[in-house]
Amino acid sequence: MYAYDEIDRTLVNERVSEFRDQVKRRLSGELTEDEFKILRLQNGVYLQLHAYMFRVAIPYGTLATNQLRALAHVARKYDRGYGHFTTRQNIQFNWIKLAELPDALEDLAKVGIHAMQTSGNNMRNVTSDQWAGVAPGEIEDPRIWSELIRQHTTLHPEFSFLPRKFKIAITASDHDRAAIKIHDIGLRLIKNEKGETGFEVLVGGGLGRTPFIAKTIKHFVHGRDILSYIEAILRVYNQYGRRDNIYKARIKILVHELGIEKFSREVEEEWQHIRNSSLQIDDEVIEDIRSRFTYPSYEKLPHMPDELRQAAADPDFEAWRKNSVAPHKVQGYSIVTISLKPIGAPPGDATAEQMDALADLADKYSFGEVRVGHEQNLALPHVAKRDLPALWKALDKLGLATPNVNLITDIIACPGLDYCSLANARSIPIAQELTRRFANHELANLIGRLHINISGCINACGHHHVGHIGILGVEKNGEEVYQITIGGRADENAALGTLIGPGVKFDEVADVIEDVVEAYLALRERPEELFMDTVKRLGVEPFKERVYATR
Ligand code: HEM
Ligand code: SF4
Repeated sequence: MYAYDEIDRTLVNERVSEFRDQVKRRLSGELTEDEFKILRLQNGVYLQLHAYMFRVAIPYGTLATNQLRALAHVARKYDRGYGHFTTRQNIQFNWIKLAELPDALEDLAKVGIHAMQTSGNNMRNVTSDQWAGVAPGEIEDPRIWSELIRQHTTLHPEFSFLPRKFKIAITASDHDRAAIKIHDIGLRLIKNEKGETGFEVLVGGGLGRTPFIAKTIKHFVHGRDILSYIEAILRVYNQYGRRDNIYKARIKILVHELGIEKFSREVEEEWQHIRNSSLQIDDEVIEDIRSRFTYPSYEKLPHMPDELRQAAADPDFEAWRKNSVAPHKVQGYSIVTISLKPIGAPPGDATAEQMDALADLADKYSFGEVRVGHEQNLALPHVAKRDLPALWKALDKLGLATPNVNLITDIIACPGLDYCSLANARSIPIAQELTRRFANHELANLIGRLHINISGCINACGHHHVGHIGILGVEKNGEEVYQITIGGRADENAALGTLIGPGVKFDEVADVIEDVVEAYLALRERPEELFMDTVKRLGVEPFKERVYATR
């Protein structure tokens, strides 16, 4: 966990009182909604279909249990008893009352949580691998660098009025769990031949109306130069980014229009001016941040404790363990993913009671730490293997032990028409129907790893372009129509899905997905061939034939 210092605390508190005054002026009519808009957006407050929506940042997806309890408290006291974890390591509250927002922010500030820069055209929450610091084989904890960038860019004037929002993600593992290739800047922590820590820097990824996979702009930037290099990229973006057209304002469009070579030459030139400035990071600065991350005092534990051996006889436990429990870098410990995708429920939602209970479990079994991943699931990062059976039983009681992590019912979905004023179609009911269709655990297991991602409009909050199966809701002649893509992925081999044919109606979506899955089961060469591999081998044609032959 990272410990805030006095400067951080002062900043967060000052922000709350500033916002309290702004809300007061809005409520008294001194500010119009238009005037207020720019102010509220700087504090994560949107105006949605039914109410204000409040988006809170969870930097690099790490939460202490007192922070999770504070989120539960906000859900209970100021909202309708639940919160929605999103694809960007944020949590959203959908029914917040404006008059109470300053109090909610103040309650969160007490535990070092804020909503700064969770909306608006600025540097958004810097995201990272939810297994940061515990994943085996990681170069080093990527959160140290996420935190450095967070500190440097928070309320920094140069990054506060960018042409559009700006997102950075960092990974330090070969397997990318942070989806760095669909971010404005993606950073992959690596070591060079001399053993020095640095980054492969990628730029220009993003989803939305014009999706792009990020391109490598530089194969190695030394750690001490990373702030100046990022700043050089942002300066070029700030200078050339299209402010006249919101659809062309993201850096991905600039990179595409200039071409990566020209873009990187511009960045290189800018970088030479600022590289040896105060932006160069001293080792002490990094050491200071590193020292503020505390790690648990792990015990020396056996690789295979008796408790785990005994529990293995229970098929329900084994079903859960197989896909929820991952190896930890310390022997005798595991990383446990907690599915927020119970059958028939909106993906990513957690009730105040679940959050509180989970905080208790994290105190008991995970050194007081909880993580949030971009797949809208949570994780306990340091669970002793001997505690796995007891933890599973406790999670099951809370409705948090659905054994579907990475399976077909582990769906990512945006809120769509149920909440969002930009939506063209419903997303949540599609996700709910699909989880019911594939509720049978044997069937889901037989299918294996398969990610379905759903968005209710082209903005792509549900990451539909990079779903193994992507579902995009559009509006056609007043009706909801859904376009289906296959072959997308968001990991180290990130790719955009390919459309399989004309859109289908709301009622047909689940049938079509069943057809796609049946086609895969019939086409795969052997049970180990995953959906993505079959699509890669055969392309979309056989799937298209199967779906549209009878329609
Ligand atoms: C309910 C209110 C929401 C509103 C008004 C909203 C607004 C938007 C807008 C306007 C965009 C498009 C930006 C662009 O042009 O690039 C966008 C993109 C995005 N939003 Fe949301 N959003 C909402 C909810 C969510 C939720 C629930 C999630 C997570 C599940 C989310 C995560 C994202 C992500 C990941 C993108 C990615 C697009 C990219 O990488 O370019 N948003 N959002
Ligand atoms: S994808 Fe569209 S409908 Fe879904 S949350 Fe984002 S803006 Fe709203």
